[in-house]
Amino acid sequence: MGLKIVVIDFGGQYTHLIARRVRELGVYSEIVEPENLERILEKKDVGGVILSGGPRSVLDESIATLDLIFSASPPLPVLGVCYGHQLIAKRFGGVIEKGGGREYGRTKIKIIHRDAILDGLPDEFWAWMSNWDIVVKPPRDWVVTSISEKGTITSMTDNSRIYSTQFHPEVTHTEHGLRILENFLRSVCHIDRWWNPGEQLSSIIENLKNTVREDERVICAVSGGVDSVTTAVILSKAIEDRLYCIFIDTGLLRKNEKENVENTLKKMGVKNLITIDASSRFLEKLKGVRDSEMKRKIIGEEFIKVFEEIASSLPNVKWLAQGTIYPDVVESGKTGRQTALIKSHHNVGGLPEKTTLKILEPLRDFYKDEVRAIAQKLGIPRDIWTRHPFPGPGLAVRVIGEVNVEKLEICREASAIVEEELKNAGVYDCVWQAFAVVGDDRWVGVIGDKRVDGYTVTIRVVESIDGMTADWYRIDYNILDKIARRIVNEIPKVTMVTYAVSSKPPSTIEPC
Ligand code: XMP
Repeated sequence: MGLKIVVIDFGGQYTHLIARRVRELGVYSEIVEPENLERILEKKDVGGVILSGGPRSVLDESIATLDLIFSASPPLPVLGVCYGHQLIAKRFGGVIEKGGGREYGRTKIKIIHRDAILDGLPDEFWAWMSNWDIVVKPPRDWVVTSISEKGTITSMTDNSRIYSTQFHPEVTHTEHGLRILENFLRSVCHIDRWWNPGEQLSSIIENLKNTVREDERVICAVSGGVDSVTTAVILSKAIEDRLYCIFIDTGLLRKNEKENVENTLKKMGVKNLITIDASSRFLEKLKGVRDSEMKRKIIGEEFIKVFEEIASSLPNVKWLAQGTIYPDVVESGKTGRQTALIKSHHNVGGLPEKTTLKILEPLRDFYKDEVRAIAQKLGIPRDIWTRHPFPGPGLAVRVIGEVNVEKLEICREASAIVEEELKNAGVYDCVWQAFAVVGDDRWVGVIGDKRVDGYTVTIRVVESIDGMTADWYRIDYNILDKIARRIVNEIPKVTMVTYAVSSKPPSTIEPC
């Protein structure tokens, strides 16, 4: 392993994006809470630190833990972004004006002193700002390297190893942002490209072989998504038929999911697949439930019950394998920075907290796009690793109000049409998610001379980088028209199709 980059999380919405960009540039990165810094720095494998953005004001808090970074020996290169920029200014005696941020969104930046991180950039470029406080005076002997059109200090350096930007180099709206991060990695931290997720495969498999004893068996819940299928295939490479995969049909899954999973695992040489149709159990529990958090809770609990019933019937099962990926690890380790619960995003039911089995999470260090690269390397069919994310509670979060067989069937069929038409038009791979939603809204239609009080189906297609923010996809009208006609013609009882045109925020991606 080469040197890694630590991204310190101050609760900014782009923290994961910074870490992902660093990995895209071939350097392994980890997100760390400020209070865990000491333990991380002890290992001496950190080649640089990035201080993320954050929602608070640096004027309101103590920054004592950060001294560990600035006093590290040998000295650590540091890049501060937005809130990180202000933290650095505060630490070294600069002046910050509270609420002085006059610029938000795309802002023109002018370079006035070209330092190592601005190397190779044009004299002027557009960058993304999202600030409230600003640095109005840099620390003594520091150099201001760029300013905005309004004269705000937008970047500065101590001319040695500490750099900071008021704007966000990690977002795509910042021109040459990736170049800034690359300059920091190569010219300031002196770390070359070394991280390649596909190359980790043999050591992951080796690790699993050494962890699971010859007489022990492993169970793994597979849903048909890229994370669980990749987890199962990796495990079967390591422990072969000591792996049992379990596919639970909750009745809330996408069309043809059972066949997909069976075919894929068979093709990949995964031997023991147990499938169970538990749909009537789930539907019974969901009867009359309209609240979406309640739905999530019920589905999670029922899933654990069904899963444990199967697991307890198998001999010598000691391990539970899960398709947990890096954002799940970081999220579950959160120290309460996020103030409001928006949605409880559990992956199929929070199994680890309740089980006595030991846990295997071979993908816990990887982002989704890295898992896709690993899946590709394993030879998993393209259809699986290019699949859109699908929520753990399944179609229950796409059926507004009570979940019943009729609405589920409409949602499932309509979503399959949306996906099929986007694939036909070559658009599927360009969007984050595309699906249909059905609720209780009705629309009167005339089908074959008969008046029908039918359902309204809403199509949601969004573009996103990480699901944290999203924009509605400006879909071609001809594609939309084809989708709408097919839904009304092919699915009984649907009389109206609408298209969702709100971005996230304020709307979320899934309706419930
Ligand atoms: P929202 O709807 O919060 O979704 O904008 C953001 C991303 O998360 C997925 N999602 C979930 N995933 N369990 C999951 O495993 C859930 O309960 C859940 N709710 C939303 C959603 O599909 C999108 O990609």
